[in-house]
Amino acid sequence: AIDPQFHENREKLDTHEGHDVWGPVDEPEKLGIHGTHVAVDFDLCIADGACLEDCPVDVFEWVDTPDHPESEKKADPANEAQCIDCMLCVDVCPVDAIDVDAG
Ligand code: SF4
Ligand code: F3S
Ligand code: ZN
Repeated sequence: AIDPQFHENREKLDTHEGHDVWGPVDEPEKLGIHGTHVAVDFDLCIADGACLEDCPVDVFEWVDTPDHPESEKKADPANEAQCIDCMLCVDVCPVDAIDVDAG
């Protein structure tokens, strides 16, 4: 599962579509965590798609990640600022790749 303490345990390396990227990153095998309020561990995501289907405010968008060992696309929290903290995505992800910081 995604580390809920990633803010402390990982280093902010970059930004992507307006959100933070937390390392380590070593493309294409290691992609890190995307997002801060809504965070997706790209190295865990298997492209299940439940988060895209269920999010009521369409926070997620697919991004292509060719040659990643788990899946060739990832759910990117492109619109994390719209999140209403319903926690559906956290509940439905089969690999617990998503953390929403509703605290
Ligand atoms: Fe969407 Fe709810 Fe997840 Fe926020 S917590 S990203 S609103 S499904
Ligand atoms: Fe990936 Fe989990 Fe969504 S596997 S596509 S973050 S439901
Ligand atoms: Zn991203």
